[in-house]
Amino acid sequence: MRKWVFLTVLAVSALLLSNCSGPRKLSASRVTYEKNIMAIVQTECSPCHLPEKGGKKKPYDNYSSLKTDIDEIIRRIELSPGDKGFMPMRRMTRLSDSTINLFRKWRTDGLPEK
Ligand code: HEC
Repeated sequence: MRKWVFLTVLAVSALLLSNCSGPRKLSASRVTYEKNIMAIVQTECSPCHLPEKGGKKKPYDNYSSLKTDIDEIIRRIELSPGDKGFMPMRRMTRLSDSTINLFRKWRTDGLPEK
């Protein structure tokens, strides 16, 4: 139950944050880049992976590089702080389970862009 509340909140904030035009159907059933993943990456992987914020690491400000690297991204966010390769680097805690699950579900759902 909490998961759906979380997904809905994320979906609404993703919609508010994106400057796309026109209403879009809110659906909690399918995880998409624009609806769920983009906002998480912009918060959690900032600034290192966001060139527009001065990040010098692999740019994750776009759909195609996230899609290409999804296996490595999930592998790294599943690690624990202190493990070699753990992301988000320098954080003391992992992303929440529900956030990690969103990445997993996005992959299971076939990595849809929208
Ligand atoms: C504080 C800066 C910082 C943050 C925040 C951060 N990263 Fe990184 N990331 C790095 C650095 C530095 C490297 C290169 C060193 C390495 O590969 O471990 C890297 C490398 C990576 C790589 C390997 C890229 C490659 O070249 O194959 C992945 C995948 C990755 N990060 C994912 C993420 C994800 C997903 C997030 C957000 C949830 C995140 N990172 C947040 C600094 C950061």
